[in-house]
Amino acid sequence: MDGRDLVRSVKAVGSAGATQGLRTVRAAWRRRRADASGLPPRGAERARVPGPVRDVEPGPGGGVVRFDRSELRIIVAVNGAVFWGWDGAGPEPSYALANRCPEPDPRAALEPDKDGGWRVVAERVTVVVSRHGAVEVLTPGGVTLRRDLPPRWWEPVGGGPARWMQRSEVAADARFFGLGGRASGPRLRDGTYRLWNTDPGRPFGPDDDPLYVTMPVQLVVADAATHLVFHDSSWDGTVTLREGAEGAGSGHDRAGSCELRMDGGPLRCWVMVGTPARVLLGWASLTGAPALPPAWALGHHHARWGFGSELEVRRIVAGYQERGLPLDAVHLDIDHHDGHQVFTVDEDRFPKLPVLAEELRRDGIRLVSIVDPAVRAEPGNAVFDSGTAEDAFVRDAAGRIVRGVLWPGETVYPDFTHARVREWWGRLYEERLAQGFVGFWHDMNEPTSFTAFGESTLPRSARHSLEGRGGDHREAHNVYALSMARAGYEGLRELAPQERPFLFSRSGWAGMQRYGGTWSGDVATGWPGLRASLSLVMGLGLCGVPYSGPDVGGYDGSPSPELYLRWFQLGAFLPLFRTHASLRAGRREPWEFGDDVLEHARVALVERRRLLPYFVTLAHLARRTGAPYVRPLWWSAPEDRALRDCEDAFLLGDCLLVAPVLDPGADRRAVQLPRGRWYDTATGQAYEGPGQVLVDAPLSRIPVLARAGAVIPVRGDDGGVELEAWAPARGRTGGGLVVTDAGDGWDEPEIERYVARWVGSRVVVKREGEDGVSEPPHPVRVRGLQTG
Ligand code: NOJ
Repeated sequence: MDGRDLVRSVKAVGSAGATQGLRTVRAAWRRRRADASGLPPRGAERARVPGPVRDVEPGPGGGVVRFDRSELRIIVAVNGAVFWGWDGAGPEPSYALANRCPEPDPRAALEPDKDGGWRVVAERVTVVVSRHGAVEVLTPGGVTLRRDLPPRWWEPVGGGPARWMQRSEVAADARFFGLGGRASGPRLRDGTYRLWNTDPGRPFGPDDDPLYVTMPVQLVVADAATHLVFHDSSWDGTVTLREGAEGAGSGHDRAGSCELRMDGGPLRCWVMVGTPARVLLGWASLTGAPALPPAWALGHHHARWGFGSELEVRRIVAGYQERGLPLDAVHLDIDHHDGHQVFTVDEDRFPKLPVLAEELRRDGIRLVSIVDPAVRAEPGNAVFDSGTAEDAFVRDAAGRIVRGVLWPGETVYPDFTHARVREWWGRLYEERLAQGFVGFWHDMNEPTSFTAFGESTLPRSARHSLEGRGGDHREAHNVYALSMARAGYEGLRELAPQERPFLFSRSGWAGMQRYGGTWSGDVATGWPGLRASLSLVMGLGLCGVPYSGPDVGGYDGSPSPELYLRWFQLGAFLPLFRTHASLRAGRREPWEFGDDVLEHARVALVERRRLLPYFVTLAHLARRTGAPYVRPLWWSAPEDRALRDCEDAFLLGDCLLVAPVLDPGADRRAVQLPRGRWYDTATGQAYEGPGQVLVDAPLSRIPVLARAGAVIPVRGDDGGVELEAWAPARGRTGGGLVVTDAGDGWDEPEIERYVARWVGSRVVVKREGEDGVSEPPHPVRVRGLQTG
């Protein structure tokens, strides 16, 4: 340690001061020491490839292909997904899978292929294995979607986990998406992306990678089909992507490529093939249906680090109410804790939290609490004492409890990869419920420990239960937040069985949607941050996490009124619509940016509330089908190249196309339209797709277009559901679904299906049910007629 390190660390923790700085430096040294003794150097390594094929053993859904130096197990599952694993790896155990591995498809079997290879032919995909272990995925029509070259392992001569590398080729026209929450997407351009959940330690922009949620999940979209590939290993790794190029004229195509390098874990993967909708359905059936947020969580949330007191919370809420601005939830950050200790309240500044919660609730506003995993390491601190009694905290290889540094000072970390620890942690939410909180915001759970140098997390040698198998932080790190989410979710189900838990988490991994969503961390205030926030929401949706949204206005500094407004207008159409900012940032209430911004923000808030029944419908559809609320424009037309490359607009469900303004000074913008007629919902003007159109985008609104024929459930003035139908093009029909929540519990929702069609000079909307066609039970308003 030298003086500069100390100064850097003190700066890193800001106002917490020099004592914290010293602790930070000590923690970093401890981590280094722990890794030096807990993780012996790898030493010499031996490289290995599968070698030539020897024989096969047919099995359910496929079988095992044996090579000289490895074996490959292939299983086609009944849901159409294909699994393969090298070196004896099976689908289980897995943190990503929601349940046991799906049953094998009895119709799929290994058959000899040409040149000494083998193949498995399934309904939607053919998998061909060459005699040296290349694995090819083809459409039923025989077009190659992905070709994995034989993998390569590097094994320490003295034993220990093997590193491995898998190189793949994809079609020349393919585009990559996914890999969790990436700020530079949604289309993932050529580059190397790391698979290690990371708190960047400062607000992030498009160039920051990795961030809080990484996942070895790629969605690859090509003319021939879309496929999702998931490499089920939670270890640190990198993915290097290179898009291909199509040869012009008589030139050759250059295939796209992907190189995955992992520091350990099984070499196994799942592949799903089909349309984007089918692929996401398969993914959700494998990794779990997205948790259904309660309806209030689909409204507007307001947060801030540093409300500081009940008085201030009341002042802000009154600010919303006096101005007639809809507000559905208020989030309390760590400043409401006693000494920053999770599951406590600073009674001086928040003396009557349950009373405040009750009063807010009566006004339709819910309280959401931050929950950090780090526990202050201090006897007498109730959470520390009870965790110690449960032996809940992560230990190092020598059996000592690992210490880090976070807001409360010196901290210890629960090992959420142990079922007993999850149960203990889940019970702690009882204190939160008693304070009146009904929603939970998991933070700092990469997990983060402040550090003066190196990585801001636990030592890699730290030991974890990993469900009794035992292992270290290299394997547990990426599933730490996922396991914390499980602890919270299951705890809440026990404590409040009649309510659907609402939680969202900064970090997570494949399968996190089972427990909730994410807000994807501290986005930097600025126009690039605004663009990055859209990239994250779209990318996460394509990895199966449909509920997310950014800190509207950005996390730090002070946005210009224009930037704040454009962010607000975008946020109003994203699943999680939350204003939030740092302790040191400027204000984020809509009235802090001048009268014009206030009026335009009001329009966005009122529109969000009007669209609530549509958001509820989308949440239910996400639960049933895995389809994200926010979808790329190519969702239903992945073969449309122009749509595939369009990153600045999105579909909100089937019915709406939202084109946010992402640049300063714009009052019009180009919008790439999918096929069909689209109406500007503000002016009623009709546009015909496919193609690009210029649409007005004055400061008062961002362009939102409705698909001709759409039937959209909206909230009427009396609070009931109304149907807003957009005239189909002449000679065509349309329709829509309405899913109505039966409260915030577990009762089955009601699903209504509508069709819209021309009858003479009128557009008529009817309900279609099992007993035939009937009049809708809701008022209907038809729009877009003047252009019919
Ligand atoms: C980091 C989180 O990303 C941020 O949203 C929060 O305000 C701070 N931690 C303080 O809790």
